[in-house]
Amino acid sequence: IAAELGDGQIGHRIAHHFRADSTNTLAANLAAKGAPHGTAVVAEEQTAGRGRFGRSWYSEKSAGIYVSVILRPPLAPSAAPGITLMAGVAVHRALSASTGLKFDIRWPNDVMVKGKKVCGILTEMTAEVDRLHSVILGIGINVNHRSMPSELKEIATSLRIETGKAFSRANILVGIFRELEREYQTLLEEGTAATVRAWSAASTFAEGKRVRVVQSSGGFEATTAGLDPSGALRVKRDNGETIPLVSGEIVEIK
Ligand code: BTN
Repeated sequence: IAAELGDGQIGHRIAHHFRADSTNTLAANLAAKGAPHGTAVVAEEQTAGRGRFGRSWYSEKSAGIYVSVILRPPLAPSAAPGITLMAGVAVHRALSASTGLKFDIRWPNDVMVKGKKVCGILTEMTAEVDRLHSVILGIGINVNHRSMPSELKEIATSLRIETGKAFSRANILVGIFRELEREYQTLLEEGTAATVRAWSAASTFAEGKRVRVVQSSGGFEATTAGLDPSGALRVKRDNGETIPLVSGEIVEIK
């Protein structure tokens, strides 16, 4: 994989594990020991793969991509939403190029195909009040799964299920590292607003989508009304009020 990458740092150092509890945990340990920007941890299988909101991530052995990338952005913690969005844009680009399928991004960074999730991204960070130390981008992609477990079938799919073809996970990873390198540079050079524009161009969720907003404090229905330049998703509630979402998740109402 590293031999296929050009200049840049993302994916040039890879720690490969046949089995890991969670690649995010291994990457966080490496980051704490000083591993440089761009270091990646890849596993064939995770025994405790983690998703957002304390969920688990189904990590079938050798079927999916389970990778965590250590970033060391010279930015403040307030830039974290931009990093989350840029990762979704990068995966969206890489998967579009290597499969020919048409993907969507559900805010903030679930990559979807035909209304079902094919990739989830868990962004974790360590920081001082005004400076990020490290960001761990944990990316899980359902690639060669022949079927999904019954409890996930309605909401998740794999590239193989959608195309009938098996894919080289190494080739897809090369594309992901390249696109991450590119989108990360755009974010650093042009700022979050540029990432927000790229995200909005790739996602049908940016504007006019009827959604249910799920937050720890409860849920409500709303219509999406664009991202603000910091990456928050504006949603218009049924009482006419428009509010920015900085965390939580949305589900399309069909
Ligand atoms: C989500 O809930 O959508 C995020 C899922 C993130 C899963 C990936 S798999 C590689 C990395 N290691 C983990 O334990 N989680 C992330």
